Amino acid sequence: MATADQIKRLVKAHLDGSDEKFKTAVLQIAAYEAKQNHVNFARELKKLVDKPQIPRANVVPINKTNPMLHMSIPNNRLDSLIVSEEIKERIIRVLNEYKNRNKLKQYGMDNRRKILIEGHPGTGKTYTASVIASELELPLYTVQVDKLVTKFMGETSAKLRQIFESVESNVGVYFFDEFDAIGADRSLDNEVGEMRRILNSFLQFIEQDSSESIIIAATNNHKLLDQALFRRFDDVLHYSIPSKNEICRLFKYKLSVFEKDFIPSDKLINSSYSLSHAELIKVCDDAIKDSILQEKKITQSQLLKLINERMTVYSNKEA
Ligand SMILES: Nc1ncnc2c1ncn2[C@@H]1O[C@H](COP(=O)(O)OP(=O)(O)OP(=O)(O)O)[C@@H](O)[C@H]1O
Ligand SMILES: [Mg+2]
Repeated sequence: MATADQIKRLVKAHLDGSDEKFKTAVLQIAAYEAKQNHVNFARELKKLVDKPQIPRANVVPINKTNPMLHMSIPNNRLDSLIVSEEIKERIIRVLNEYKNRNKLKQYGMDNRRKILIEGHPGTGKTYTASVIASELELPLYTVQVDKLVTKFMGETSAKLRQIFESVESNVGVYFFDEFDAIGADRSLDNEVGEMRRILNSFLQFIEQDSSESIIIAATNNHKLLDQALFRRFDDVLHYSIPSKNEICRLFKYKLSVFEKDFIPSDKLINSSYSLSHAELIKVCDDAIKDSILQEKKITQSQLLKLINERMTVYSNKEA
């Protein structure tokens, strides 16, 4: 059988969209199999790649030279995402419906696949997109909204169209981060409200899309959220700073790798309230680093000190 390296090369060539590299990888496997005396299998493989290629459909080249889409293969599991039970259940529902989409189709139903996430910075909006991609074993395409918007409206529309062509032909999780930037720059607007039109056309693309891909749009601009916007999405998730229960879980989860039975004290939990998930994770990382360097156990007082350090940054900023 093919070795792990050979399989990895094959997958990488496919994801890079390189037919040439893919063919080379298959031929390498064929050669390897021939050496193992699996002559028939080697011959079959070779025959498969020697077949004349049918030209591919009109696909936007997804590679490093396309600045609008950044492709990655994340590996972040659902259990590492600290959110409320309600949010977790709704994410699980997205995952389940995707996995059972064919069953749903038999009854004329579509899986929910257009998700809007709104909420505070550092609460896991971007991270959720990577968790969903990881759990569904799909590539994550992050749409660089800032590269999408140019001062030429026609160009912006053409780019949007290209992205949605890719949504159709390259199945994955498409993440539009801070998507409201599409319509936000009022300085680019003119009397006829063209920026608004671009945002509307983005929303229309979303509405019309019936691909297999999952579309996730994130924003921390809650003002944008009106009924018209909700309507385009199958689900809207509101993220906020961690509750005390989440703070407790976050400390336990993050520190468990290093301090197996760590239980945060009430004082620590109360002092951490108002910091985002991202900030608390930084505090945990700092505590772990301290402990490694000083060869000491992680303590509540050490964490409290780090939390206070972070809080001071804010009070100084606000002063
Ligand atoms: N709910 C969470 N559970 C676990 N880790 C989290 C969570 N939220 C944030 N993190 C950690 O913090 C990092 C930054 O969070 P993330 O980028 O997802 O925040 P965001 O909500 O997208 O913020 P922004 O609005 O600034 O884009 C993540 O990579 C992850 O390590
Ligand atoms: Mg983000």
